[in-house]
Amino acid sequence: MNLPLLLFNCFVILFVGKTNAFRFLSTIDKRTSRSESTFRNSKSSVTMSRANAAQGKSFLNARIIGSGANTPPNTLSNDDLATFMDTSDEWIFPRTGIRRRHILEPNQSLVDLEVEAAKQALEQSGISPDKLGIIIVCTSTPDEMFGDAGAVALRIGASNAVAYDLTAACSGFLFGLVTAGQFLNSGSYSHALVIGGDALSRWTNWNDRNTAILFGDGAGAIVMEACENNESGILGFAMHTDGNGREHLSMKYSGEEVTLKSSKGHKITSQKYDFMYMTGSEIYKFATTVVPDVINEALQNAGMTIADVDFLLLHQANIRIMDSVAKKLKLPLDKILQNLDEHGNTSAASIPIALEQAVREGKVKKGDVIACAGFGAGLSWGAAIIRWE
Ligand code: UT7
Repeated sequence: MNLPLLLFNCFVILFVGKTNAFRFLSTIDKRTSRSESTFRNSKSSVTMSRANAAQGKSFLNARIIGSGANTPPNTLSNDDLATFMDTSDEWIFPRTGIRRRHILEPNQSLVDLEVEAAKQALEQSGISPDKLGIIIVCTSTPDEMFGDAGAVALRIGASNAVAYDLTAACSGFLFGLVTAGQFLNSGSYSHALVIGGDALSRWTNWNDRNTAILFGDGAGAIVMEACENNESGILGFAMHTDGNGREHLSMKYSGEEVTLKSSKGHKITSQKYDFMYMTGSEIYKFATTVVPDVINEALQNAGMTIADVDFLLLHQANIRIMDSVAKKLKLPLDKILQNLDEHGNTSAASIPIALEQAVREGKVKKGDVIACAGFGAGLSWGAAIIRWE
């Protein structure tokens, strides 16, 4: 290789390496130019939108026809936390909107919550479990590592459904909704059950006040059906992942080293995950930056604007994040659906639990357009525009 070519190659390697290192920060800082990955993602979304437009549609023929939710009876209030941790209701509530969270007791299981939420959603939909073709359980904290979906399918009597778990942390439900919508839209199945369930209390370091104050346990579920009507269903969506920020929200495998009694003394690691770790301020910046953008992107894919939106339903992480997103979108704050005070952040369960409550209380009515958005570990984020049936 000649010298000029060698220097040129060195320049390319240095430049690309630096670009990758700063990609996460530039993604979450709108004051700088858009990152390469964000640009690439938004370009592919535009391509998708055009492809759909060419077919005369930018939506999925899949609508929600039932919702359900279940949380454990046991609650832990901010005042309860203050009895064993250096914190207070005066600090937690104004900064997060959270007053209490529901947590599983040792004799309770996440599958119990998921099954109850699923039964409620099925009852509201009027669909019998044997009509379900697919069940997606969105969770990062299943009762068993191989997934909750098989147990849920068995217990609700969904004998004809394929059932599996989907892991995308707090974006899980949003990604599961779109995944199920694709199966229904393609004609593979007529009915789907999507469950968001998490039990983060099991993975919380109860000595870490940065995370312990935020999370609760619960499950929410929706039943969806394939539809022909262009007016209903998932009107538009957008989803993204950028692994550059993954260090800011993680639950890492950290198995202990074991030496096997093999002839070569093979070493392996075995059986352990760390507690959840979060750099709260970074996730806050990330969420308040990407969520307004992805909602606008989903609206664009739906051929709609923010003026068409009746309600904003975000992953329930922090009331200040919701207010900031609503302000950036120029939506009145009374359009936000939230139940943070009672449940805190229930990860993949937070959107369906808040949806069920809004429907039960008669807040969301037939024909309403809801802009939903999930965000969290990965880092991952996405939005879907749905019309309530
Ligand atoms: O579902 C996954 C998505 N997760 C999220 O969206 C979470 C996003 N982040 C947040 O919601 C916020 O960053 C938190 C609520 C986690 C924290 O709020 P903050 O305003 O960013 O607080 P901070 O971490 O910057 O801490 C401010 C101060 C610090 O004290 P000094 O250094 O200023 O003296 C902390 O040590 O507050 C202190 N602090 C607390 N004090 C009482 C932190 N946590 C607590 C606490 N109680 N629980």
